[in-house]
Amino acid sequence: MKKVILDVDTGIDDALAILLAVKSGQFDILGITTTSGNISLDKATTNTGKVLKLLGKENGIRVIKGANQPLLRKPFFEERVHGEDGLGGALKDMEVDISDTENACDFIIEQAEKYKGELSIILTAPLTNMALAIRKQPKITSWVKELVIMGGAVKSPGNTTPLAEFNIYIDPEAAKIVFHSGIPITLVGLDVTRKALLTDEHISQLEGSDIGAFVKDCTKHYIDRYHEVNGIRACALHDPLAVAVALDRKIVATEKLYVDVETKSTLCDGQTVCDFKGVYNKEPNIEVCLEVNSDKFIEMFVQILNS
Ligand code: BDR
Ligand code: CA
Repeated sequence: MKKVILDVDTGIDDALAILLAVKSGQFDILGITTTSGNISLDKATTNTGKVLKLLGKENGIRVIKGANQPLLRKPFFEERVHGEDGLGGALKDMEVDISDTENACDFIIEQAEKYKGELSIILTAPLTNMALAIRKQPKITSWVKELVIMGGAVKSPGNTTPLAEFNIYIDPEAAKIVFHSGIPITLVGLDVTRKALLTDEHISQLEGSDIGAFVKDCTKHYIDRYHEVNGIRACALHDPLAVAVALDRKIVATEKLYVDVETKSTLCDGQTVCDFKGVYNKEPNIEVCLEVNSDKFIEMFVQILNS
């Protein structure tokens, strides 16, 4: 079984990504590390614990807290998208106790060393924890097998600024460190995640279980917001698509390209600049997802959550 760590800022779609990863039964999940991003570190950590409790895994999978702010910048929370609590009000009365006291950065280093060449890390949040781990233990770059990152937009507009996607925009300095680390990376950006749309009809196919009820509850707010901004009654499964790519790479078409991150511009900070024409003459560093089989992905999502 593939050994994985999930790095999250739970968040509605992070919650759905955790459901998909755990319910798939195809990962040995060593732990879930949390970071500040969509919401504060504490809320993201609590929400992660709640999702695991819903899955009956509160004692089976560790939740390890990480960075409470980006490397250099101030946090910027997306409560408009995820609600004040980060889960659109779902599971609001559930109590959880996160007692793990290890730090995410140390946990990532320790697991990467223990499982050299075997560890996949799926990151669906700003890349702060991963950048801190690389900075603290540079050898990790040859220990980690791969990173699957939900982040960036190489051909399409951003969702936080006209050019930048949220996870990269929040901590572009961290993204730069990670992108140039030499670890094999697959980038699952808005170019494909915007095509991974969950509709009310898909949600109705999940009815009849606690998980289905949770999906319905937490996506209500998310769909309302997506509708307001994009005019479509659906929501993009950004983070679940990254998990799905780690499960089955065949659902996307990728190209290995050179990608860098802008960190020094007023207008363009957080932009993922992709050198399609090779004008920088630099070695491609990232396997970029350019197409997705959306139907196959949604089918997989619904089937795994119903299993
Ligand atoms: C990403 O930003 C967050 O709001 C979501 O959880 C996802 O990880 C999409 O741009
Ligand atoms: Ca996220």
